[in-house]
Amino acid sequence: MWLKNRRIQSLGGGRMERFGLRLWSRMQFSALKSRKSPEIVSLIREIHRQKRTLMSAFESYIIFSVSRAQSRLDGAFAEIGVFRGGSARILCETKGDKPLHLFDTFEGLPPSAQQDRNVHRRGQYSCSLPEVQDYLKGYQNIHFHRGTFPQSSEGVPEQTYAFAHFDVDLYEGTKACLEYFYPRMTPGGIMLSHDYDILAGVSQAFHEFLAGKPETLIEQPTTQCMVVKR
Ligand SMILES: C[S@@+](CC[C@H](N)C(=O)[O-])C[C@H]1O[C@@H](n2cnc3c(N)ncnc32)[C@H](O)[C@@H]1O
Repeated sequence: MWLKNRRIQSLGGGRMERFGLRLWSRMQFSALKSRKSPEIVSLIREIHRQKRTLMSAFESYIIFSVSRAQSRLDGAFAEIGVFRGGSARILCETKGDKPLHLFDTFEGLPPSAQQDRNVHRRGQYSCSLPEVQDYLKGYQNIHFHRGTFPQSSEGVPEQTYAFAHFDVDLYEGTKACLEYFYPRMTPGGIMLSHDYDILAGVSQAFHEFLAGKPETLIEQPTTQCMVVKR
């Protein structure tokens, strides 16, 4: 049993998620406004108003802040789980001239495994690739990879990564992300995942993968966790 609170886990993916997110983010935006750069807060607010993301305001800020720091390291950026392009847009803003590889089925979630405990349905979060390409068309060096990860990684040139953002919601996908990116991360590179403490499959994939590895999982006060590659 990786998650203690199954009621919290059952919020993942449904209408309750969106409703809770709106309320939660309203409070978080007030806090961010009083302490953080107005340009960054208004970027994140715009992404939320456009309904481009399922992240809370704090989660969006953490993606911004960690990816901005990682832009100083050698290596590309990647995101697996793009949906309507909200979190990807933050990476577009922080990456500088690095390549950003964006992976999604663009047909919604693949089938769940037993570890996911029936929270999501197949095809949930489906979205249009051309529409997301249009949303991000002002940014350079963006590479879209349509299909189920890790199969969609075939043909992606071998390279190192400074930052990889995972938001695939499911056990198999999270495990595949960890297996693919861990050996390709630059020392000091960061893998950041959404939903670590709200979705049992995501949590289990991290625990199993990190067993016996020198890295330690760093939990955030949001649903996110991250791993810094040694
Ligand atoms: C919750 S959404 C991502 C939300 C987005 N990061 C945001 O800005 O809020 C999850 C996405 O992961 C994608 N996905 C899940 N498993 C995948 C896999 N194995 N390969 C490719 N895409 C996957 C789904 O198609 C969906 O678009």
